[in-house]
Amino acid sequence: MSPAPRAPARVGILGAGTVGAALVRLLARHPELAVTAVLVRDPARPRDLGPRPPRLTTDPDEAIDGADIVVELLGGVSWPTALMARAAERGARLVTANKAALAEAWPTWRPWVEAGRVGFEAAVMAGTPAIGPLTGALRGSRMRSLEAVLNGTCAYLIGEMERGVAFEAALAEAQRLGYAEADPSLDVDGWDAAHKVAIVARMTVAPDLAWTDVLPHVRGVRGLTPAGVRAERTAGRRMRLVAYVEPDGAGGWRVGVEPRAVASDHPLAFLADGRNALVYRGDAVGEVWIAGPGAGADVTASAVLADVLQAARGEPGPRPAWAVASPLDASPAIPGTATPPPA
Ligand SMILES: NC(=O)c1ccc[n+]([C@@H]2O[C@H](COP(=O)([O-])OP(=O)(O)OC[C@H]3O[C@@H](n4cnc5c(N)ncnc54)[C@H](OP(=O)(O)O)[C@@H]3O)[C@@H](O)[C@H]2O)c1
Repeated sequence: MSPAPRAPARVGILGAGTVGAALVRLLARHPELAVTAVLVRDPARPRDLGPRPPRLTTDPDEAIDGADIVVELLGGVSWPTALMARAAERGARLVTANKAALAEAWPTWRPWVEAGRVGFEAAVMAGTPAIGPLTGALRGSRMRSLEAVLNGTCAYLIGEMERGVAFEAALAEAQRLGYAEADPSLDVDGWDAAHKVAIVARMTVAPDLAWTDVLPHVRGVRGLTPAGVRAERTAGRRMRLVAYVEPDGAGGWRVGVEPRAVASDHPLAFLADGRNALVYRGDAVGEVWIAGPGAGADVTASAVLADVLQAARGEPGPRPAWAVASPLDASPAIPGTATPPPA
């Protein structure tokens, strides 16, 4: 006798914007998952929800109640965190792409993450796997340092400046193309990359890292000029907005974001405009590079869906580092990396 088919896992979705609508379209390929309802601000707004459009609601409880898995794709910090607290109280597994909430409201999220109840692969490098390898295969090594390009908008802006386009003109074009937010501060002042690297640091070496520990070390690309960026290129280096987790020289870790000129043979120098990359250095494994697309509707929804499938199978989500790791003494600076003076 064949086993009785399992009832579909019930998925509540908060948000059907860029990522949420793409997730709904991908979910149509998964009859083993059933959407309870999708929270939106304006149900009348036209949106492409594919062949199995779910019920839209403006009442969060309609999406959360009765859901086995609640997926948060709203953005923001306080309100989405409060909604996820409601979902957690009701016993749901949680999935989110919200790096701002994870970074800034870590004390609330941390117990859920420690319990393996949260999937958030999409929050860092979208559909390119980062959290999975960092909390999986790479746990066999002790981390020496990590450098990453985590914001595609800044990578695009720097690429345009290398071509001689002024910062303001490049930013206006990025906004026209839909790369940059209407309020570009999150991207260009480094906050988006800082959110992501704070998550990475907590999952690898510094579970106690507070958001306020990161704030003093965040600089974006606003001070860069085409002349400065081109001068680095002429000198054989490439300018990058680098998010880093590095020994602070005093027994702890410094986590931050700043423009750096990297040598032309540095792994972050090879990136095509708009792509993300992460360079992990561990004592046993050596240097590992992870690179791929770091934003976009389907790219991000792909990782969100993977987390939903993992939750539906009852597999735990990634867990933070157990305790603060001591930086290794011999932590060679990445060869050929120079930090330019503040603009
Ligand atoms: N876009 C990317 O490439 C990307 C990549 C990685 C991570 N993320 C993260 O994914 C999350 C979602 O991003 P997104 O680009 O999909 O955002 P978005 O396009 O702005 O979509 C936000 C959704 O939330 C809904 N919403 C906002 N405020 C609401 C309210 N007060 N009540 C009910 N619904 C509300 C909106 O409803 P309406 O549709 O009715 O306006 C919309 O459906 C964010 O945390 C973002 O950082 C995005």
